[in-house]
Amino acid sequence: MPLLPKTVQPNSGEDHFDKQGFPHFMLKEIYQQPEVVRTCLAHYLNSNPDRPFNLPDRPIPNQIHLLACGTSWHACLIAQHWLEQIAGIPTRVRAASEFVAAPFPPTSNILTIAATQSGETADTLAAVQLARHSQTHLFGITNQPESSLSQIVDRTLLTHAGREIGVAATKTFLTQLLVFYCLTLDFAHQRQQLSGAQMQDAIAKLHALPDHITTLLQQDSAIQTLAQSFATAEHCIVLGRGIQRPIALEGALKLKETTYLHAEGYAAGEFMHGPIALLDARIPVIVLAPAGSVYPDTLANVRKIKANGASVLGIVTAGGEADFDRAIVLPSIDESLSPFLSVIPLQLLAYHLAVLRGLDVDRPRNITKTLTE
Ligand code: M6R
Repeated sequence: MPLLPKTVQPNSGEDHFDKQGFPHFMLKEIYQQPEVVRTCLAHYLNSNPDRPFNLPDRPIPNQIHLLACGTSWHACLIAQHWLEQIAGIPTRVRAASEFVAAPFPPTSNILTIAATQSGETADTLAAVQLARHSQTHLFGITNQPESSLSQIVDRTLLTHAGREIGVAATKTFLTQLLVFYCLTLDFAHQRQQLSGAQMQDAIAKLHALPDHITTLLQQDSAIQTLAQSFATAEHCIVLGRGIQRPIALEGALKLKETTYLHAEGYAAGEFMHGPIALLDARIPVIVLAPAGSVYPDTLANVRKIKANGASVLGIVTAGGEADFDRAIVLPSIDESLSPFLSVIPLQLLAYHLAVLRGLDVDRPRNITKTLTE
């Protein structure tokens, strides 16, 4: 059965608050991702080679602090990797729900960025209020222009994802990543970390993202079939190394909240230091392993996991399939951009498994879209 109704163009024209022929909002929102990435890019990119990003002027900070909860916190963990490794700016991340108990010590010339798709998450707002006392410059990344967050930060960077109704954040995550990536490139430009040619190359690769996502969504039926092999699982492990570690956390979060499966996201290397003792043939393992600098080390971990009898599903780029029991192959992409793609099979897997288990995909038990208290 084709999942995407033939007559429907996701997010064409206005953003309607109906399912547009999709069985659930979560699936609709997953399918909207190529379009929202295009929309978000159109807001942040321009054709001026001297200043290619539409972002507020600001000084180069000595340090960047990132605050957020849940999926938005995972976006911050990826942003930390980019800001440090591409822009060369020391960056700290703290779950906003932990920040009030343990704020960062004050230092000079800090930029604090709070990310919250709703702009209303109580823990994030409390963390921002506290950060304000330390004379920091404050940016907010949100999907809601009129949100409480926008009232208390110096500058708001909108994600332009359109309304997200499914409790599980999908398209708002991808667009948070996009805003963070543009900010990273802008800082790299400001600090002359990238040549003009490298910057043009990076921008061209951003423009290619929507088509890559569309290509990946064509594997939806295969992922739906794959979900059946998780139908009776009680536990699942999701592993990633380097920039894929936050995607492992995000994939596990998507599985937990939509399917109620006990899923653990873990750093692939750290998993060897004890947790591997959990494994047996009943626990499926998903490993995020697109091509890149950490692939050989990830593969070494996979070999040990397989030696313990576990079945391993790889999320790989072409050529990586042979090293796994089963694989989902991503379009070829630079390692730094790979989170934009590797998260999508996990969103689809969580969605299909929840449907298979007969659960209320858009409104999982015990949680609401926005935690305002
Ligand atoms: O609106 P926010 O981005 O601040 O929400 C933070 C978390 O509550 C949220 O990401 C939650 O983890 C989602 N349900 C994840 O899908």
